[in-house]
Amino acid sequence: MQTKRQKSGKMLIGLPLQGFPRFNTRSESNEVGSPAGEVAIIGGKAAVAKKDRRPMATCRLPRRFARTTRTVLAPVLLVGFCALAARPFRGGVVATAHPIASAAALSMLERGGNAVDASVAAAFTLAVVDPAHSGLGGGGFALLHDVRSGQTRVLDFRETAPSGASRDMFVRSGKVEPKLVTDGALAVAVPGAVAGYFAALSSYGTLKPSVVLAPAILAARRGFRVTPMYQRLAKARLDCLRSNPGAARIFLRPGSDGVPDVPALGTPIRQPELARTLELLAKEGPPAFYAGKLARAIASAVKEGGGILTPEDLARFRIVQREPLVGSYRGHRIATMPPPSAGGLTLLQVLGMIELKEPSGLPYDEPNSLHLYAEALRRAFADRAKYLGDPDFVEIPLQKLVSASHLSELLRTFDPSRATPSNDILPLPAAPPSAERGEKHTTHLSVLDRSGNAVAMTTTINDGFGSCLVVPGTGILLNDEMDDFAASPWQPNLYGLVMGEANSIAPGKRPVSSMVPTIVFQKENAQRPMIVVGAAGGSTIPTSVIQIVLHVIDYGMDVAFANGRGRVHHQFQPDALRLERYALDPATIKALEAKGHRVETRDPWGDAEAVLEDPRTGLRYVGPDPRNEGAALGQY
Ligand code: DON
Repeated sequence: MQTKRQKSGKMLIGLPLQGFPRFNTRSESNEVGSPAGEVAIIGGKAAVAKKDRRPMATCRLPRRFARTTRTVLAPVLLVGFCALAARPFRGGVVATAHPIASAAALSMLERGGNAVDASVAAAFTLAVVDPAHSGLGGGGFALLHDVRSGQTRVLDFRETAPSGASRDMFVRSGKVEPKLVTDGALAVAVPGAVAGYFAALSSYGTLKPSVVLAPAILAARRGFRVTPMYQRLAKARLDCLRSNPGAARIFLRPGSDGVPDVPALGTPIRQPELARTLELLAKEGPPAFYAGKLARAIASAVKEGGGILTPEDLARFRIVQREPLVGSYRGHRIATMPPPSAGGLTLLQVLGMIELKEPSGLPYDEPNSLHLYAEALRRAFADRAKYLGDPDFVEIPLQKLVSASHLSELLRTFDPSRATPSNDILPLPAAPPSAERGEKHTTHLSVLDRSGNAVAMTTTINDGFGSCLVVPGTGILLNDEMDDFAASPWQPNLYGLVMGEANSIAPGKRPVSSMVPTIVFQKENAQRPMIVVGAAGGSTIPTSVIQIVLHVIDYGMDVAFANGRGRVHHQFQPDALRLERYALDPATIKALEAKGHRVETRDPWGDAEAVLEDPRTGLRYVGPDPRNEGAALGQY
């Protein structure tokens, strides 16, 4: 698929300024050869020229200046003029964790596609350019909102335990063997991403798979360049990646001693095998993955690695269409992810408790406000540990858990002056120290199209680079989603999360997730999205989303500013209040400690991607996560 402008190589950044010189930005992309690099990405904000007849000022300089401009003037001009003028947008907006994926999404909107077309193009592209976070071998959730009918659909394409899975499959000599749950074939659950992306596209999209997958195919063929973030993620999973020759060949490069190592900055990562897989999918759709030769290749790679996923498991995989979990906060209707995610429940419980205690709002970043927020989180995560599991396997009293009476009951033990010890809320057998990894994996994308249709999709292969198992000849990197089960109930997992019996392993069961794609609606029009949001970051996902919602609704913050505020997290166990470095000032931290909170400071975590429509003006604003390398784009 190539648009007219792509053929001529002249998709331009566009600005609503008349008569401004034009500037071709192809070389600004960080994609090798700039296949989808028709946009400029500066400081997470960029724009693509809209196909319309309005005279459009764009940042384009005469050809003879192009070379100098690329190297010297471009950054100055772009930062100086384009970034300043990048918002607000009048048309569609997208926010993803990678500029090339955002460009892919925007190119679908430009050709007249809707939010679903754009989100699926971004999801397939992320599988290529952000392989540490999501991919064809993973799974996830999406909320698809149709503005005309006012209906929000939920697609659950979460990975599922293979039929040979059993409750204690990771236990060796009475203890969970952590490496087995995260590295290699046994950690792999039946992937759902391909089924999910195609289900969204065929049910609610308007463009053909060949069009929607084209940017991903091009990106796989031409490659993307290694960034500092890629280096960090590859370093964190170096042993795991080295253990699989396919993964090492694609994602690492030989060091001076010949051993596969983290590639140098700027190294191109090309994935021709993945390009061929995507081409096959564009032609044949999900049957190629779940029943055809890809299915056989996946099952045999897993078997060879000592795993249990079979061709029959793949053939049996089904996406589930669910009803959204619906609640409200200060008059705004909220649609969010129901179980098997715990994230939506956590979000509604925490917001509900805050609203019950502080019906007329709470002061910003003040110790008492933060204390209430932390205590609400503690109680919500305890409920998660107690009740949450795959709703097709366990009874979850969902309506009761979000009811005002239950939230009031949870708050009965709330003490405004003291932190409640987590053990007083739900006593646990002593939890051993957990080896928690970094908290930036997974990916979220938010799209709002010109008409107001919205998609919030969070998709993952769980840990960085999933299980590190690449299926030979296909470029497919498989997940390690089995770690989201309670491999040993009440023992912490990769994220230090403690879960109970309801989340124990069983064949065909989906593990509980924290992922929380969410749409907050406008007060005046409960059918029209206001904030489309979600995040990466394991157990911290719900708190990143809750904070953005609080910051926008309670304090009227701009969505980008809201996303940048310091994050504060509590997850019941471990019993600690975690802060991003610089999140709070020393006096506030002291006041929280005086209330009995054990405060831990950490490097910034998570990756939230949000877009917003201003209910008063209809203008659109974007909130890419300033911590990372994502980008948000929009149409004028
Ligand atoms: O579904 C979940 O909650 C996890 N598998 C998400 C993984 C994740 O965000 C990893 N980040 N640290």
